[in-house]
Amino acid sequence: MVTTVMNKQVILRDYVKDSPKESDLVIVSNTVELKVKSGSSTILVKNLYLSCDPYMGILMREPNSSTMALLDAYVPGKPLVGVGVSKVIDSDDPAFAKGDYVSAVVDWEEYTTIKTPIISKIDVNINVPLSYYTGLLGMAGLTAYAGFFEICSPKKGETVFVSAASGAVGHLVGQFAKLMGCYVVGSAGSKQKVDLLVNKLGFDDAFNYKEEPDLDSALKRCFPKGIDIYFENVGGKMLDAVLLNMKKYGRISVCGMISQYHLETRDRVHNLPDIMFKRIRMQGFVCGDFQDRFPKFLEYVLPYIKEGKLNYVEDIVKGLDNGPAALVGLYHGKNFGKQVLEVARE
Ligand SMILES: NC(=O)c1ccc[n+]([C@@H]2O[C@H](COP(=O)([O-])OP(=O)(O)OC[C@H]3O[C@@H](n4cnc5c(N)ncnc54)[C@H](OP(=O)(O)O)[C@@H]3O)[C@@H](O)[C@H]2O)c1
Repeated sequence: MVTTVMNKQVILRDYVKDSPKESDLVIVSNTVELKVKSGSSTILVKNLYLSCDPYMGILMREPNSSTMALLDAYVPGKPLVGVGVSKVIDSDDPAFAKGDYVSAVVDWEEYTTIKTPIISKIDVNINVPLSYYTGLLGMAGLTAYAGFFEICSPKKGETVFVSAASGAVGHLVGQFAKLMGCYVVGSAGSKQKVDLLVNKLGFDDAFNYKEEPDLDSALKRCFPKGIDIYFENVGGKMLDAVLLNMKKYGRISVCGMISQYHLETRDRVHNLPDIMFKRIRMQGFVCGDFQDRFPKFLEYVLPYIKEGKLNYVEDIVKGLDNGPAALVGLYHGKNFGKQVLEVARE
């Protein structure tokens, strides 16, 4: 007999116009049969952890040519879609067995039926918490690794500035840079986050950009001789101030610009001529561009995890009902490290 269970989902009500709010999302309940159709080549998974990511707010907006270059927008009335860590409940694919753990693109719900090409099996012999596959051993980790090493071509002794430095990507970039012998400074939005960066994560210095609105002075104090590498997570005024403080032949890795995603009129950046004056190389990227580097990334990062040389900070919120608050919190700096939504433990 086929078991039928309740399946809660997080649905987008309608396209958002400015910064996403909890009220833009609604929790609904449906039912799902815990069985896949024979011949469907699908697997049915129970979602354990869902990754909360800033790009998800972009996909909540009515699509335009910029956002469509990123990913398909969400559909009003349908669940959000994101990266999850899930357990296989039933499978019509010989590559996946009941009880396997997978990392996959899933709807924001308790149970999802997925087509197999977008799934990778989790190697449980890599003895880390399953939630790490939403971040450190998932998108945030690969983004930090590729965005820093591939785009910035760092050298020992160089000066590195990371914005949104206490977040999922930022706190890893800063530690990767320290591990290779760079001088690293981060910016973040509270005193507690600044303390975390300097006292727990080994940054050489950090400042609270909300308390020091004169960003140019803050950067001059932290980098009296200038910045070699800027890992860009926020954009806007921060980018403008950074350009004034970059060294000749500096590199800027444009990972994200969270301060700009939901503005009606985006901030003007006045100091772009410095890119030419200083021969700066500035490059945007998305994590998926570097998917083929994942094995190399694992080779790099796993020894540091095993030796306890990397501090990974997770902010785990429990229960699908709390998903909207966890996601929206990213745009208000509520998270410390990687924001994860725990839907179920097993
Ligand atoms: N290119 C890619 O493939 C890729 C992949 C992953 C992420 N990203 C981008 O990388 C950046 C960081 O992502 P993440 O996943 O690591 O998120 P995160 O840093 O863990 O969370 C977002 C953080 O951004 C900061 N923030 C929010 N609004 C801001 C504003 N208006 N001005 C300045 N800071 C603001 C907040 O920290 P504070 O308290 O410090 O303000 C918040 O905690 C984002 O821009 C994201 O879109 C890009």
